[in-house]
Formats: sequence, structure tokens, C-alpha cells
Amino acid sequence: MTRRYSRITGTGSHLPPRRVTNADLAAELAARGIETSNEWIVERTGIEARHFAAPDVLASDLAVPAAHAALAAAGLQPTDIDLIVVATSTPDMVFPSTAAIVQHKLGISGCPVFDVQAVCSGFVYALTVADALIANGTATRALVIGTEVFSRLLDFDDRGTCVLFGDGAGAVVLEASEQPGILATDLHADGKYVDILCVPGHVSGGSVLGDPLLRMDGQAVFKLAVGVLDKAARAVLDKAGVPASDIDWLVPHQANIRIMLSTAKKLHLPPEKVIVTVQEHGNTSAASIPLALDHGVRTGQVKPGQVVLLEGVGGGFTWGAVLLRM
Ligand code: UT7
Repeated sequence: MTRRYSRITGTGSHLPPRRVTNADLAAELAARGIETSNEWIVERTGIEARHFAAPDVLASDLAVPAAHAALAAAGLQPTDIDLIVVATSTPDMVFPSTAAIVQHKLGISGCPVFDVQAVCSGFVYALTVADALIANGTATRALVIGTEVFSRLLDFDDRGTCVLFGDGAGAVVLEASEQPGILATDLHADGKYVDILCVPGHVSGGSVLGDPLLRMDGQAVFKLAVGVLDKAARAVLDKAGVPASDIDWLVPHQANIRIMLSTAKKLHLPPEKVIVTVQEHGNTSAASIPLALDHGVRTGQVKPGQVVLLEGVGGGFTWGAVLLRM
């Protein structure tokens, strides 16, 4: 029996309209007596602006237009979809899943839907799971979405984190194929690092218990990220038997330009082969990779047949990579 593969046949994304520049944010923080500057943020992270959703806009509201754009690019209707996997750490509700809400908003029913919670590695996790469900025949045409409203989790009295994150959504249609699109995947986690990047609070008895805002030890995350991303990248290249020199595009999680370029350098990839959107999006967690991939496709950089390396790292600590042919 020939193996069943999966392949990305359409990409889409959506950003909330409110664009907040570093200067806007610096002015907002100054009003709270907190000092930051465009220069610090650009130099340390590469971020110039991010988008913030209006207070009544939920993760599913960003996911749905991204999904429609990916479906249109694939030439499909929502009724063609038989699996929805949503990667998010900012779900609409505690339960049910944001995927169930997205399914309903797309006007479809019946197919399996669920969320994946792996924070900034969420999209790489979700794509790996969807690929496996297509390979084993559970699904034929999947929507894989990363969507986040991280602005809801930010402590605007903590300049070390509030300048880093933004809101947005990205989606892909993943279809069964006789030719491999997804070439190899590699996922990992180490729960001993829970505390270095987390939102520690939880809901109990009608109240939030504990701290409901994002906390990060930036330097610890930075050091871990650089090491594990290189290992995951090499693992997928080894599994697929593809040399690093065959990579056309690196589409990394967009957290910090210094981490992205360091990973590229270790793989001997020039900066021109890295899709970079962090300057405009900030860190959108699980949405950042599909947002960057869609940007690469729509700007004509990422073309059919090219080899693309996706890699993510985030809270958990989680990390992973996907090597694919578009
Ligand atoms: O998405 C999951 C993955 N997340 C990441 O990959 C994030 C990884 N970490 C990072 O990207 C970096 O660690 C940060 C961008 C978060 C921070 O950069 P850094 O070069 O590690 O800076 P730092 O935390 O060592 O802070 C350096 C200085 C400190 O001042 P002192 O102690 O040297 O006087 C901070 O208080 O910069 C100060 N600082 C700021 N200054 C102006 C921290 N935040 C700000 C700010 N504006 N927003």
C-alpha cells in the first residue's frame, strides 16, 4: 500500500486592525511611569509594531477570516473540511475548544475538532498531529490554525514582557496527497521549565486564583531557545535525509530577530532565506509561524515545490520543527 502523505494547499492569515507602534506603546507606558523606547525594543527584539485586538474580539474571531483565506487559496469550501485543529493559549472559553467555536462560525458540523495547547510551539504541534491524522486516514482535508489574543495576558506594568507580544491568526489547509508535503516532524517538551514562561493563574470557584498575567524569564527562555531550535532543525533534516543547504526558506517562530538569525546561522543559511515578520507582528505565539508562512506565500517568496523549515519554541517548555515541501 502506498503511504498517505499530507501537503499544504492553501495559507491565510488575519490581523486585527489596530496597529500599535513602539512609540505608541512607549507613550502608553510613560503615562504609567514606566520607561521604554523604540530603540531598546528594536535593538533587543527586532519588533517595530504589533496588532492588538479590540476588547470584544476573541481568538475564534481572528481564526475565522484566516481560515476563509486559506480555504480560498486552496480552492475549497468550509464543507470540504473534515478536521479542525486550533493551536491557541488564549482560547475563547475555558471549554469547549476554540476549534468547536471556529467550526460553528464556519457553518459546518460533524468533523472532529480540538485545540492544541503548546503555547508558541502550538502550530508546529498542531501541524504534526494533523499530518498524522491524515496519514492514518482519519482526515483528508484539515484546517490547521494558530490564533492568539496575547494582549489579554499582558501586564502593562512589566516592560520586560508587554512590549513583546501581539494578536493575530494564521491558517493552512492540509490535504491528503500521494506526494509528500510534510517531510518530517520533531516535537519535544520539558516540564521542569514550566516557571520560566507561564500564566500561573487558574479559574476556581468563580474567581481567578493566582496571577492571571504572563510571566517570563526572558534570558532563560532565550538561552534554551537557541539550543533546542538547532537540535530540532537538525532532527527533521536527518529524518528526511535532506541537507540544510536544500532549505529554501526558514519560517521560524517570530519572537526575537536575534534568535531567528542565530538559528539560521547555525544551519549556514543566509538571513535572506529567513521569513521575518516579527517587526510588524511582534510575538503572536501559536499564530506567528502560520502568519509568517502566509506572508511568505502572498509576497511571492515561498513558492510551490520549495523546501520550508518551520520551527517553534515556547512555554512548557515545548519545542519542535516541521520540514515540508510546499
Ligand atoms: O515566544 C516564546 C519564546 N520567547 C522568547 O523567545 C523570548 C526570549 N527572550 C528574549 O527575547 C529576550 O530575553 C528579551 C527581549 C525578553 C529581553 O532582552 P535581553 O537582552 O535578554 O534583556 P534583559 O532582560 O537582560 O534586560 C536588559 C536591560 C535590563 O536593565 P538592567 O538590569 O541592565 O539595568 C532591563 O531592565 O533592559 C531592561 N529592559 C528594558 N529597557 C527598556 C527590559 N525591558 C525593557 C524595555 N525597555 N521594554
